[in-house]
Amino acid sequence: MSAFMRVELDHPSRSCLLKHDDGNLIGTYPYVWLRDNCRCDKCFHPSSRARLVLMVNLDPDVIPDVAEVDDQTLNIKWSDDHSSQFPVSWLKENQFSDMSEDPVSTPVRQFWGNEMQHKIPRFSFADILNNDKSLRDWIEVLQVHGLALIKDAPHKEGAVLEIGKRISFLKTTHSGETFQVISKFEASNLAYTNAELGLHTDFPYYARSPNIQMLHCIKQVHSKGGENQFCDGYKVAEDIKHVDPEVFRILTTIPVDFREWGTDSNEYHFKHRSPIIQLLPDGRFKAISYHDHVRAPYIQIPVQDVNKLYRAIKIFNTELYKEENKIEIKMVEGDIVSFANRRVLHGRSSFTVTETNERHLEGAYIDWDEACSRMRVIREKMLNKKPL
Ligand code: OGA
Ligand code: ZN
Ligand code: ZN
Repeated sequence: MSAFMRVELDHPSRSCLLKHDDGNLIGTYPYVWLRDNCRCDKCFHPSSRARLVLMVNLDPDVIPDVAEVDDQTLNIKWSDDHSSQFPVSWLKENQFSDMSEDPVSTPVRQFWGNEMQHKIPRFSFADILNNDKSLRDWIEVLQVHGLALIKDAPHKEGAVLEIGKRISFLKTTHSGETFQVISKFEASNLAYTNAELGLHTDFPYYARSPNIQMLHCIKQVHSKGGENQFCDGYKVAEDIKHVDPEVFRILTTIPVDFREWGTDSNEYHFKHRSPIIQLLPDGRFKAISYHDHVRAPYIQIPVQDVNKLYRAIKIFNTELYKEENKIEIKMVEGDIVSFANRRVLHGRSSFTVTETNERHLEGAYIDWDEACSRMRVIREKMLNKKPL
């Protein structure tokens, strides 16, 4: 292949055609796109890596007066007297036809049932803290499977905060940056009792409920009780979609209200309404919102639809609890179970509280935006690649 290149102005397609000397096409670059992405100091602020060109000043019909390639740079002189230089390497990375999808934003999910019981992905706390590849692999497992167990964390508060710092920071909720699940008298939340917790997603009463959840077992001295159950909500939703399309339609269209009010450091009253199974415009799953304990009594649908909504919810719930769909983990001290909160439902068996029988979990959340950002940074470091 020739090392020499040339550029042609193709006015009918309003594009620069970058070609090898022998005529083979390297790439097609529309004039307006080149003008919009000029990397000079007037058009692009280098230290903030932000575009300075505003749409108000951009002419979609802009045309180069002159374009030429020399020494691996495409030089353009525009009709408005502005000049741009584009490294050919940069142009090659920005081929329109094969601009690849960001691999971090589009994971291929694998749904699971009870077979997961014997192959829950495991990581060590020390590796997640000290090794970038382990940190990246852990986030990827959460994207693909939505569940991972982290072993051998210290038996004291602060471990989930350390993981949060590795990502960047934790998502704060009305329960604080982290929360302590310890049974208390006059508990403000059913989680802070010794009662069974049905399979649920946390914070369905937030419009943006937390994405990744961690529960760190600091103390667990029960021989019986206090086990955690998990179920892949997307797997159940997929099954219902095939077996009972009408129930699927109800669960994806009729909204249910969730609410929570009380007082921690401040008085609060949260409320959010959404279908139990939420879909993206292309039909893929966006989220599951389900939590019997905080499902509101108000249902804003015609009264004649109430019975069919309850029947559909009952079918969803029965599927969650089928042996083939759920798994159980009895955490030991130092375990951190992590899961995709808007996909994998979690529950807890009741346990007995005596003076010596203690159970203490510390929980925290991380948003996907932060986790995916960390993944991209690690990936770019590994590939020695800078963002474009
Ligand atoms: C919660 C919760 C689980 C547990 O606090 O929301 O689900 O094992 N806790 O106590
Ligand atoms: Zn410029
Ligand atoms: Zn919970």
